Amino acid sequence: MKFLQFYVLPFLIVILSLIGATLAHPYGDFLHCLSLRISNSSTISKVIYTQNNPSYSSVLNASIQNTRFSTPTTPKPYAIITPRKTSHVQSTIYCSKNHGFQLRIRSGGHDVEGVSYVSQVPFVILDLVNFRAVKVDAKNEVVWVQSGATTGELYYGIASKTQTLGFPAGICHTIGIGGHLSGGGFGILGRKYGLAADHIIDAKLIDAYGGILNRKFMGEDLFWAIRGGGGNTFGVVLAWKIKLVPVPPVVTVFTVNKNLEQNATKIFHRWQYIAHKLPNDLFTAVWIMKVNSSQVGKKTVQAGFRGMFLGGVDELIPLIQQEFPELGLAKENCTQMSWVQSILYFGGLPIQPVEILLNRNALPRSSLKAKTDFVKEPMPETGIEGFMNMFLEEEADFAITMIEAFGGKMDGIQENELPYPHRAGILFESTYIVQWTNEEDAGTYINWIRRLYSYMASYVSKSPREAYHNYKDLDLGTNNVNGYTSYEQASVWGLKYFKNNFKRLVQIKTMIDPMNFFRNEQSVPPLWSP
Ligand code: FDA
Repeated sequence: MKFLQFYVLPFLIVILSLIGATLAHPYGDFLHCLSLRISNSSTISKVIYTQNNPSYSSVLNASIQNTRFSTPTTPKPYAIITPRKTSHVQSTIYCSKNHGFQLRIRSGGHDVEGVSYVSQVPFVILDLVNFRAVKVDAKNEVVWVQSGATTGELYYGIASKTQTLGFPAGICHTIGIGGHLSGGGFGILGRKYGLAADHIIDAKLIDAYGGILNRKFMGEDLFWAIRGGGGNTFGVVLAWKIKLVPVPPVVTVFTVNKNLEQNATKIFHRWQYIAHKLPNDLFTAVWIMKVNSSQVGKKTVQAGFRGMFLGGVDELIPLIQQEFPELGLAKENCTQMSWVQSILYFGGLPIQPVEILLNRNALPRSSLKAKTDFVKEPMPETGIEGFMNMFLEEEADFAITMIEAFGGKMDGIQENELPYPHRAGILFESTYIVQWTNEEDAGTYINWIRRLYSYMASYVSKSPREAYHNYKDLDLGTNNVNGYTSYEQASVWGLKYFKNNFKRLVQIKTMIDPMNFFRNEQSVPPLWSP
């Protein structure tokens, strides 16, 4: 009797409700396939969220970072699958492939074009929110981190074991490891150690046939491709083995704000000549945004010079005084802290217990559009003036450009070492972001960022105008929604993201996923496809 009550009955209820869905919706076959393969009823209810499920919306919205893609008219997934075991991932691949659903893989949901949770064709989301273990082996300086963990969870895991090891990944602590490592990953340790992807030493991937591959079994070509060649292209990466890097117990962070009335243009002009040549221990960035002017009722543009030095303030001040006296860095602009606390500082959070890194909702979400550029020659002062002045426009009220110095370790890594090619000779990378609050005005703001991008054309890398795949920009071109996308068509954006590595990525894609099961608007297409 107990057996009937606890095992058979719940199973029947779940199966019958899914069969109900079968009759009412075209995705029934998919659900039927998946529930039969998972088979345990209590697991099914924790793994499959159909649109009828009361938790569907909260599961869907849980990690949508760009609220531009969570409006009532945004296409919604037929189901969200939150696997708890590797076999659930394999089953999801099998059933979506067999029943014609596109799969969107989501780790942290920070994709700026929303491609991890939106598609124009019938789709399901594979959400790795339950794959977030962080296993730190401080003795051997390695970590196995699952893709659904955030960078914050990784940083916290490392810092709770050791104060003298860190990891060179992105600034915002809510980014998912899965997407971030798949596209490169640049942050405040980038000048010292390069990208997050440069420190991946193994991975666990499920391919389009459900095969479980580690580095040894996938081979060096595929292992090369997944370290920067973009997510949702070669398979589902469940976990990554990464090598940690040394950090001192105390680092120094600083901010010096200068606005147009305080010579911001001239100081930024000078920064371009210096920042990439500073010692590798010193990372600097400039954040450009509109702020209130000292004259009441007026606005101005601020260049916030921010930095992180792998050492103490007494060493930093003379270094800046010698290399970049124009900044006027003083002790009161600086704070000493641990490396892990510097993540909070750069994320714009007040200094507080580092447990905040475990909070996936600690940062505000907004509707936004982003674009990126890589700059190889310093901009002339007149060019900077024009750029800054665009931030005085009305549409730039919530806009920011984050300009990050390159050089250092990035200069010493070959362009073809990994798919991410933006290395030697880059002075800085600019990430332009515009945000808005009223969805009806989205077009106006998007037009503004497009104008800013076109203004910058003469000052940035050319042939191709390089772009960073981790901040996807669908303006650069997309795959065809249905059917075949030619190499020539995809090259338009592919060469911008990957330069000459694009060809190799296409060859690897053709070998590993010739039917192009893993795809999105800007995934690497195979040479031919069905
Ligand atoms: P999400 O889950 O949306 O996935 C992004 C892409 O990867 C999608 O195509 C998805 O399908 C695919 N994918 C996700 N998990 C996968 C998996 N396990 N296997 C295969 N494919 C997978 N970048 C940077 O370099 N430095 C920085 O400091 C920042 N800061 C930053 C702040 C904010 C607020 C945003 C919104 C973005 C950034 N980024 C960034 C960009 C960030 O690195 C990029 O958006 C990552 O792709 C985000 O990874 P998520 O897992 O969060 O995204």
